[in-house]
Amino acid sequence: MKIVLTSSEAVPFGKTGGLADVASGLPKALAKRGHDVSLFVPHYPQFIDQSISHTRLFDFNVPINLAIGEETIAGSVLKTVLPDSNVDVYLVDQPELFDRDGIYQSAGGGQYTDNCKRFAFFCRAIMQAIDTLQLCPDVIHANDWQTGLIPALLATEYREQPGFEKTRSVMTIHNLAFQGRSWHFDMQLTGMDWKYFNWEQMESWGELNLLKTGIVFADKITTVSPTYAAEIQTPQFGCGLDAVLRHWSDDLLGIINGSDTDLWNPATDPHIALRYDASTIVAGKAKCKQALQHELGLDEKAHVPLFGMVSRMTDQKGFDLLEHIETQLIDSGAQFAFLGSGEPQFETFIAKLASEHPKQVAAKIGFDNGLAHRIEAGSDAYLMPSYFEPCGLNQMYSMQYGTVPLVCRVGGLADTVVDASTENMATNQANGFSFDRIPQTGEYTFNPQDADQLAFQIERVIDMYRNPELWNQLRMRGILQDWSWTPSAAKFEELYKEIVSAALEDAA
Ligand code: ADP
Ligand code: GLC
Repeated sequence: MKIVLTSSEAVPFGKTGGLADVASGLPKALAKRGHDVSLFVPHYPQFIDQSISHTRLFDFNVPINLAIGEETIAGSVLKTVLPDSNVDVYLVDQPELFDRDGIYQSAGGGQYTDNCKRFAFFCRAIMQAIDTLQLCPDVIHANDWQTGLIPALLATEYREQPGFEKTRSVMTIHNLAFQGRSWHFDMQLTGMDWKYFNWEQMESWGELNLLKTGIVFADKITTVSPTYAAEIQTPQFGCGLDAVLRHWSDDLLGIINGSDTDLWNPATDPHIALRYDASTIVAGKAKCKQALQHELGLDEKAHVPLFGMVSRMTDQKGFDLLEHIETQLIDSGAQFAFLGSGEPQFETFIAKLASEHPKQVAAKIGFDNGLAHRIEAGSDAYLMPSYFEPCGLNQMYSMQYGTVPLVCRVGGLADTVVDASTENMATNQANGFSFDRIPQTGEYTFNPQDADQLAFQIERVIDMYRNPELWNQLRMRGILQDWSWTPSAAKFEELYKEIVSAALEDAA
């Protein structure tokens, strides 16, 4: 099949979170299965890996010229390949819109106020480039609100255009908390007819909503884990779109993300102190832990449990729970290594904790891919007490590195982490620790009992860490499981086949 994936971020062209990992891992896995795959991302000169060489597609004559609202915006397309693959990558180049100090927001401030215009341009540029290049895809796969306009353009303006008659679309929701909402008048930036601004299509609670747009116009909707697919149809996790998702539930499927094992693999990882696999896990982890403690200025003690956490510091990730149990964290005697950035309140809390206990807590505020790998390899356990987690990649990376995750039982965390209960240990199913939050009505309603539960679970982890035999069983289970994209890429393939054959039937 000819598959076009579209995303606002992808490794190594720009990354803020897991979407970027998926937007490069999935196309690579699909290409390995023999499909003709290309990927469209914006060209972010400040964030692209500088070793990537690309050519401007003058030869192919792909100038982009689009009416966006009342402006005409020109751009162009650069071409390169996704490293370690034969996936063609098209970078949509428009310096005014994409050559900035951040991807969605400025380094020191809030969201860019023209995000709707930026990504409306991106979507229209993709459609124009696919047309000019005559890619004639079977499937265009949109990811999150930034590409939500694409299924709508395909189902309306492009439906009858030569080269698009048989093209079908998939919309994947990576995080329902981000919907691309803006005031109604931004409709003009999309170039869609005002007739689509209604409660069944592009409008939601009085606003333009680009994620909803993608959901209602796509041929199939997926999200990144089976549990999250069920959760988002409830008011608690639905972020105001649960009714829409219930309406479309026959077309909605949860497919768990995989891990790009070319990039996340302790046996080949160039970022870590000693490479290891299941057979050399004891020596490998001991060396990586010591190196991490050294790098971060922690006490270089081999037998103190070390918890890692690499995360966007937002409400989603449970930092307020940690804030509440600050004393218990310190009293536990364990060490903690934090890497992340986000909301000032959480950055300040983590930085303060580290400055007060420099030998026990390390904090690096910022984005650092190499350190993210060293924390996965060097930690004994990994904290992920998310309020909601569509899939979560870090718990999977942890298990691949023999690092034991402690998670809330939500979304993809519930689908990947099996709690170390007596029963699960006896059947050798356990690979981590998980606990239920007290059910609430809102997504991030803080409850002190959840925080106490987290403190209790940290003690549980420490207790098991003190029993080397059980601990080893737990981390061996994780490192030996298959976390690669292979099974999930096969599911996407099946889904694409289904809509492609339906399209052929429609045409006949
Ligand atoms: P989310 O997409 O919600 O942020 P995921 O667990 O799916 O959560 O993916 C997060 C990805 O982003 C992981 O690859 C993680 O290592 C990476 N990441 C998050 N914060 C940082 C950071 N500060 N530095 C380096 N990598 C980070
Ligand atoms: C989102 C989610 C995360 C998921 C990632 C990739 O950012 O928050 O859970 O793993 O997308 O799908």
